[in-house]
Amino acid sequence: METRRFTMHPHLLLDVMRRQAGTLSKAIAEGVMNSVDAGATRCDVGLTDKGLTIADDGKGFRSREEIEEWFERFGTPHEESEGKTYGTFRMGRGQIFSFGRNVWRTGRFKMSVDVASKGLDYDLSCDEAETRGCSIDVSLYKVLLPSELMGTLREIEKMLKYVPVRLSLNGKVVSVDPATEKWDHVTEEAYVRLRGGSGLSVYNLGVWVKDFSSWQLGTGGVVVSRKQLVLNFARNDIMERECAVWRKVKRLVDQKATERNKRKPTLDDDERKRLAEQVAAAEIEPREAADLKLFTDVSGRHVSASQLARSRNGGDLTVAPKGDRLGDKLHQSGAYFVMAEETLERFGVSTLKDLVGIVQSNCGIRHWKPRFVSFREATKGMDSKHVILDPKQWSPRERAWVSLIQSNQRSLAYGLVWGSDMDYGKAMAARRKVVVGESEAALAWTDGSTYVAYSRNFLRYLQFSMKGAMEAADVALHEQCHDDEDTGTHVHGPDFYQRYHDCHKGATEMAVSMFMDMPKAIQQHGQQMNQWILNQQDAAAKAALAIEKHGGMAGEQPPPKATIPLDPAPEPKPEPKPEVAASAVKVTAVQAVGGNPYKGSSSYGILFALGSQKEWLRDDLLAEAARLTGKPVASLAMSLQVLMNPNHKSNGGKSGAVRDGDTIRLVRHEGKAA
Ligand SMILES: Nc1ncnc2c1ncn2[C@@H]1O[C@H](COP(=O)(O)OP(=O)(O)OP(=O)(O)O)[C@@H](O)[C@H]1O
Ligand SMILES: [Mg+2]
Repeated sequence: METRRFTMHPHLLLDVMRRQAGTLSKAIAEGVMNSVDAGATRCDVGLTDKGLTIADDGKGFRSREEIEEWFERFGTPHEESEGKTYGTFRMGRGQIFSFGRNVWRTGRFKMSVDVASKGLDYDLSCDEAETRGCSIDVSLYKVLLPSELMGTLREIEKMLKYVPVRLSLNGKVVSVDPATEKWDHVTEEAYVRLRGGSGLSVYNLGVWVKDFSSWQLGTGGVVVSRKQLVLNFARNDIMERECAVWRKVKRLVDQKATERNKRKPTLDDDERKRLAEQVAAAEIEPREAADLKLFTDVSGRHVSASQLARSRNGGDLTVAPKGDRLGDKLHQSGAYFVMAEETLERFGVSTLKDLVGIVQSNCGIRHWKPRFVSFREATKGMDSKHVILDPKQWSPRERAWVSLIQSNQRSLAYGLVWGSDMDYGKAMAARRKVVVGESEAALAWTDGSTYVAYSRNFLRYLQFSMKGAMEAADVALHEQCHDDEDTGTHVHGPDFYQRYHDCHKGATEMAVSMFMDMPKAIQQHGQQMNQWILNQQDAAAKAALAIEKHGGMAGEQPPPKATIPLDPAPEPKPEPKPEVAASAVKVTAVQAVGGNPYKGSSSYGILFALGSQKEWLRDDLLAEAARLTGKPVASLAMSLQVLMNPNHKSNGGKSGAVRDGDTIRLVRHEGKAA
């Protein structure tokens, strides 16, 4: 028997150099850490698409022996006396070598390294002009794309933000002394700042190591260690078992995040996940755990264990994917509490039984013993079909609603223009066909682009009143905001809510104009409607109907007809504004206006007549035109947009607008007139 020794093929060294380096920014960070280790007070990094320089004013290499021991040989163990902050492996410089041809200058020495073409051989010369500190020039093996250069610069700024040396990057100082920033906790071990949202960035003595996802510790934020963390070879992870400093910091972060999250009225998904993990592991007092809103129902609402046990439908439990239409319906019915599948995932369990087990033992709600029913069982007999009905089957009442909704969808389109800056033509094109359908699960549904179906059940009880108009407009907006099919699952993400909010004005306008159109729609389809339905109209609708029919109300003078003076007015005298309800005014004639290319009594005609006489603030012009025509502002605003856009089809280049800041004036385009 003999004892033999493992050896190393030189090629391993090349491999280690290449593979240890993750990114160029990481290699640059190695260089900067070396500068700190050399006692530098400043370090200047320059990076272009072709080359890199790192120059410092540290002690450099002071002798040929140091070069042979520390530069030439990889892995030489460190001596206590070197007093290094970061240096551990005597390998880091290899990362800089792997990205390009290196020239290192220090004292009167110059070392030229080119691992790509010369492998492990390098050139050393010893009688160069004196260089203070140490400076490294690298010409990159691969030219950086502009986006790579920008990305690398950004990464360096992040990685080295708190490095304890004055670091400049392409001439700009980018390092910050953590002592000058505001922190939530400053301990012997670390500066700690906790924030919701994105990840928790951890810095080892000022140099970035990694970001923890915020669900891992239940928080985002920044930790800058003040003592050495034990890191892996690539310096991109913490060796938690060996690192007492990190364990202490982590305990603090965890404890503070939990304290904060327990009190927070609304949690984000990551915070919920972390707390659920802690509840599942019985790390939170049962009394506190019972009040955390960690249980998400099928419609996306979050409730606490105690609310769950108390809820009217808490006796029977089932589970469905979040947003499931049928699940939603079942949940609303109160027969079951329908848990969203994601809740099980959050607690790391696969069955409702295990989830209830956690509620009973870890939230201290032992008396709660719900029945578990599979979703299939629970929805037996419930119909999740969505059927579109042949128009021949539509009732007069349904027809009236279809025509009301269909023709007033332009208000929604206007809402899109208004709220999401959508181009007018696109918004009008985005209108969807309105149809009647049958569904047990939904009030309305859409394929996300071509149609919106309103269910019979919904239309049946919709009143011909302002209230009914508002309900219908709300549903119309809701469906318009779905840009995907919503028959199966029905999830409302942040984008949906934002669109709904931003475009809501369109729904208000739509409700108003539907309400105004009600008498007409009822008359059109009304011969076949019974008296009961007609009686559903509320008082205001009846008034509108009367006006529509008789042009006025009994016992009153018909309102004066609005006129618009000629331009230019010889003597501008204040115009008395008739004090009448907008809807009561019917403009039948507008005095001929020289050069008005539009029909006098049309919206276009009136807008142009007004708008070409003087400069207006847009809203004033719309309000005035609305007063004169009795039309909703939304529809006039759309007409105005057309008038101001000479390229629009229906305008034909007849008009355009001159703008001066907030004011507009409409002008006629002689050349293009049709
Ligand atoms: N800018 C510098 N100024 C002075 N000496 C330097 C400089 N850069 C590197 N050195 C010397 O070269 C040695 C090797 O550097 P290298 O980064 O490869 O290893 P390290 O810093 O010792 O350990 P680690 O692998 O953990 O980074 C260092 O120990 C140091 O003595
Ligand atoms: Mg190093």
